[in-house]
Amino acid sequence: MDTNRVIIFDTTLRDGEQSPGASLNRREKIELARQLALLNVDVIEAGFPIASQDDFDAVHAIAGIVKGPTIAALARTVEKDIERAGRALAPAKKRRIHTFSSGSDIHLRTMLKMTRAQNIEHSVRSVKFARTFTDDVEYSAQDTTRADRDYLVELYTATVEAGATTLNIPDTVGYAVPDEYAALIGYIVGRIRAPGIVFSVHCHNDLGMATANSLAAVKAGARQIECSINGLGERAGNAALEEIVMAIRTRADQFGGLRAGVRAERLYKTSRLVSRLTGLAVQRNKAIVGANTFAHESGVHQDGILKERATYEIMKPQDVGIERTDLVLGKHSGRHAFRHHLSKMGIVLSRAELDDAYRRFKELADKKKFVYDDDLLMIAREEMADASTLFALDYFHVSTGTGAVPTATVLLRRSKEIYRDAACGDGPVDAVLKSIDRLTGVRGKLLDFSIQAITVGKDAMGEVSIRVAFGRETVSAKGASTDIVEASAKAYLSCVNRYLSSRGSVAAGKNRKPRNK
Ligand code: KIV
Ligand code: ZN
Repeated sequence: MDTNRVIIFDTTLRDGEQSPGASLNRREKIELARQLALLNVDVIEAGFPIASQDDFDAVHAIAGIVKGPTIAALARTVEKDIERAGRALAPAKKRRIHTFSSGSDIHLRTMLKMTRAQNIEHSVRSVKFARTFTDDVEYSAQDTTRADRDYLVELYTATVEAGATTLNIPDTVGYAVPDEYAALIGYIVGRIRAPGIVFSVHCHNDLGMATANSLAAVKAGARQIECSINGLGERAGNAALEEIVMAIRTRADQFGGLRAGVRAERLYKTSRLVSRLTGLAVQRNKAIVGANTFAHESGVHQDGILKERATYEIMKPQDVGIERTDLVLGKHSGRHAFRHHLSKMGIVLSRAELDDAYRRFKELADKKKFVYDDDLLMIAREEMADASTLFALDYFHVSTGTGAVPTATVLLRRSKEIYRDAACGDGPVDAVLKSIDRLTGVRGKLLDFSIQAITVGKDAMGEVSIRVAFGRETVSAKGASTDIVEASAKAYLSCVNRYLSSRGSVAAGKNRKPRNK
């Protein structure tokens, strides 16, 4: 093992997908895993196969399709979880079972209802069982930052003896501060002297310290960092992969020759893809990949930058793949160039999807002078939705104005069926969304709604990001169009579709009768 290498373990598809409203369908997960492989992460945690049939299928598909990184699957220290993870990973050339229990007394007593000794016994048994599927077994004890250190040493020692090859020491609740976390990692690393074992960290961001804690842990001997694109993950999220990679690279002087194998120049595209697929916007001032990261507003800063870039920039936009302009195609671009461009962004469409996407690209290029990467990503994303079971927007018409009652007529299509209805609202968007509710038979409550221009110019596509609650479930999505009412309708419909698919059927929609076929 290269001891100078920090292993980048990406958990966007597992912990990241646990972000409220971030659910992805199988197809989207495969596309994202492909992009993570292009990014050259070392490990892709593809999912939690026991959680649902969809999760199992996605891990199984990724294990069969995505080459390069090790594919990992999560399992509790429970035999049926491990077996399911082992079966889902079977097609992968390099596969890892990641099994976890807990290390803190509060978790053991209240959640797992086990004594410390029983937890060790379960963990040992589980690691041994996981080893019957693969030689690469990671063991995690949740909530280590609120646990007794000597108990952790005992627990990790037992799991190493049982065959674990990576020991993950998570800050599950984002409680630690950097010095304290580094001391914990140093303590455990110093006491478990097993050659070839990799110590890993997995930090949550509840106090905004996930990246700082992960990097402090590396200085104390950790050699794997678990992180996610755009910092997605439970609650406040995980350490952001892009921050970890660029910190190790930009401050190489601080990390004594350590390096990560990630292709940094692909970070920005990967971040955009994750944001498009999950529907979760990246805050403008997000480190490394936010829209403002390389923007200089104050006169003093602009003056400095013009004289010498290094006065106010510690990284170049190109280092993370932000091009000065990502103008790509126009209305004369051919199908071949179109496909080539999508594949450079890590997107592979079937022939039928490509035909449809190309037709839509041509329509867009007719409306807009310039078509940018982000426009293409939006078209591709819409193609990747599972068309056979979902509602698609076929047509809408709105009538609105001062002193008039805003009214919308909407036509939806599902397979070959057409559904048509109309509704009034307190604005054109409200009227369209109400029509969609009537047509699909599910009623969503809008929690967040925002619009921003995806690219530049007055003819730019408007991107609507929304979060919708369906009962207790919340779903996020985006929709884009040169018309913002259409963008709103697409975003809302995408939430409805995600909600219906997450319920495993289009049950609500099935009760609707097609109208005016
Ligand atoms: O936060 C956590 O502790 C986890 C474990 C499953 C590693 O996500
Ligand atoms: Zn986690």
